[in-house]
Amino acid sequence: MKPGSEPLRARFPALRTSPPPIYLDNAATTQKPDTVIEAVREALESAGAVSRAVHPLGHAATERYEAARERVAEHLGVPPHEIVFTRNTTAAIHLVACGWPADGAVVASRAEHHANLLPWRERLLPLAPRPDGRFDVDALREQLQRERVSLVALQHASNVTGLGTDLDAVVDLAHRHGAVVLLDAAQTAAHRPLEVERLGVDLLTFSGHKMYGPEGVGVLWGRTEVLERIRPVQIGGGTVHAVSETLEPAWREVPWRFEAGTPDVAAAAGLAAALDLLEDLGFDAIAAHERALVAQLHSQLERRVPQLRFAVPHDPDSCGPVSFWVPGLSPHTLAKALGDAAGICVRSGYHCAEPLHRALELPPTLRVSVGVYNTSVEIERFVDTLAELLQLHGL
Ligand SMILES: Cc1ncc(COP(=O)(O)O)c(C=O)c1O
Repeated sequence: MKPGSEPLRARFPALRTSPPPIYLDNAATTQKPDTVIEAVREALESAGAVSRAVHPLGHAATERYEAARERVAEHLGVPPHEIVFTRNTTAAIHLVACGWPADGAVVASRAEHHANLLPWRERLLPLAPRPDGRFDVDALREQLQRERVSLVALQHASNVTGLGTDLDAVVDLAHRHGAVVLLDAAQTAAHRPLEVERLGVDLLTFSGHKMYGPEGVGVLWGRTEVLERIRPVQIGGGTVHAVSETLEPAWREVPWRFEAGTPDVAAAAGLAAALDLLEDLGFDAIAAHERALVAQLHSQLERRVPQLRFAVPHDPDSCGPVSFWVPGLSPHTLAKALGDAAGICVRSGYHCAEPLHRALELPPTLRVSVGVYNTSVEIERFVDTLAELLQLHGL
């Protein structure tokens, strides 16, 4: 099966309506294939509380949940006990931010998504992005020389510009100054392989729902010794071996000390099924398909809508999101009109990255983001409809 092919599209119920939506909001969330829906349904069909019950249904639920953990670990090339299930990327970053030792500052760029800025707020040394929107490695070097920094938090790719970072340089610098690196891979997990060893980072986060899996599950991966530095903040059932008379907890090992309460087994099973889909398609094929769509989008927009302004110039390595604005017309008006006129789903606004927009002096933008099921016919339809709408507005 190939990205963009009819057999692949047929596996997504949301695309089987007549007419199907033209879904170009994949940076926000993705549609789910039948295999993911089936995995969630199967898990819901026989419930049992994970790690709590010794009866057969409880045992089956625990096995399903731990099998999902093993699947994620296999995908990243790491041991299963280094995989912490969370609700989403935001919760994974919070888990680190709330429990990270107080002995040092945290550095992040203002180009980050709010989810990777606000949780660090109280000890954040914010870096301005470079004028082209990219992470400023020189500014990081200066900051590391000036201050004691214990953690550098950065995104693998921006949800506004799609641009990545010179990760090797950041990891090398941070490690030389004794800081760990947390990589927010929310925008790359569906587009690029996350080979943890090769990335060289210490902590990694992503969300199931942005990679064709269900909402309600995200992942925090960390090297064991780094996870062990994090104080569990959400504590309760499942996190402790024993509780003393004075309510002193004896922590379970990682990752279980971070997974308080009854977990979402069905969502974890759905995420495992989503990884099967991505690996079956192959990341080389996915990247080639999506790069071609983004290149087509850029060149057709440049030709057909010359008054449009891109947030950043086209980068062939970009992970997908393309943001732009049309002077004289609000992106919300445009997004609503695209949806009403042709069932085209795109995002408008600041995309939870207001400081980035401010740093680059961008107005609210319209964002188009592609996924494995999008086709070149859809891109053409989007550009045609946009051009027609602008004509209607006399622009
Ligand atoms: C780069 C980036 N980080 C974090 C998030 C937050 O993801 P979630 O809403 O799944 O927690 C997003 C969501 O758009 C994102 O694009």
